[in-house]
Amino acid sequence: MNPLFNKLQPYPFERLRALLDGVTPNPALAPVNLSIGEPKHPTPALVTDALVGALGGLAAYPPTAGSEALRDAIAGWLRRRYGLAQLDPARQVLPINGSREALFAFAQTVVDGRADALVVLPNPFYQIYEGAALLAGATPYYVEQAADNGFRCDWRSVPEAVWRRTQLLYVCSPANPTGAVMPLEEWRLLFELSDRFGFAIASDECYSEIYFDEASPPLGALQAAQALGRADYRRVIAFTSLSKRSNVPGMRSGFVAGDAELIRPFLLYRTYHGSAMSLSVAAASVAAWGDEAHVQDNRSQYRAKFDALEPLLAGVLRTSRPQAGFYFWAGVPGGDDTAFVRELYRQYNVLTLPGSYLARETGGRNPGRGLIRLALVEPLAQCVEGATRIRRFVEDRRPNP
Ligand SMILES: Cc1ncc(COP(=O)(O)O)c(C=O)c1O
Repeated sequence: MNPLFNKLQPYPFERLRALLDGVTPNPALAPVNLSIGEPKHPTPALVTDALVGALGGLAAYPPTAGSEALRDAIAGWLRRRYGLAQLDPARQVLPINGSREALFAFAQTVVDGRADALVVLPNPFYQIYEGAALLAGATPYYVEQAADNGFRCDWRSVPEAVWRRTQLLYVCSPANPTGAVMPLEEWRLLFELSDRFGFAIASDECYSEIYFDEASPPLGALQAAQALGRADYRRVIAFTSLSKRSNVPGMRSGFVAGDAELIRPFLLYRTYHGSAMSLSVAAASVAAWGDEAHVQDNRSQYRAKFDALEPLLAGVLRTSRPQAGFYFWAGVPGGDDTAFVRELYRQYNVLTLPGSYLARETGGRNPGRGLIRLALVEPLAQCVEGATRIRRFVEDRRPNP
């Protein structure tokens, strides 16, 4: 066996299962699941119709680079969404089978096997980044997203000796779980560091289309690059997905776009790995990227849930509406996130995720400790029911005045 497997950490949901093992949830209450970030709004008919209409695609091996029609549809979406003036769909765009596999595979392409290689990650973070770094033979270096810094990473706290060994930096904006969106100034700093030290930047943008103000969508990496005079997108690659945007987590469809010098070796890697998108899925993806009405409708459903839950959680959890995404990242009274999650499940049959499972301890501190993540993916009524029970749970536990 590859000895690097021993370095992999158990996945947060595995740890959640272990935490709740032997705990019987209150049988008088129907379960409410706020733990997992799997979109649950219905898949739009325009996507399922296109998929069914293209079932003939199952009879052919798909090209790893994707069809011209798909790359053109993606490039068209990127131009509309981010105002990109220069983008070559043949060299700077590649379809992927959901962002997860590509976020993992990208590290295998860019990490060069040097023993002291580092991959820098935000903390808390999506665990795939860490596993990707470890299996590429690199060591992860975690940069805290602290509440007192607006859940932004303090990149200036990273020692120069670390940047010198860094081969890849993962960023996530809008971030899971914090919802923080990176502003242009943060991109300016990261691009300067990347120019100075030569590392690649993988920008995970799978929540880019889940936001509140229709007039100000989150800034994307390529948009930031263009705004800062880097129209060749050097050393940056953005990962975007249909899973959350179009409610198709099971379709496994997304794309990477950015620096052609990074995309070329990534395509080679993917050719060997066998990561080509089915032609049927590609046809459904073309339909999805070409329509925004269903995405606006999706956003309005999430907005309604945040509107309803914000007043319910006010005063019981330390939280506020995120900048984007569909999670509340919420501080719990008493500061023990695992005990809170377990007791809430036992007494009120509401499933949430301990924040400490989404982060690593560095310098004696786990930046997820004392927080929980609530995913607002279930229908509005269930989310309201979950938040109402959380409110009751916290109020029950308050000492009498
Ligand atoms: C931060 C983040 N990145 C990537 C993904 C992967 O999404 P997909 O593979 O469906 O595109 C997820 C899924 O939950 C996520 O939360």
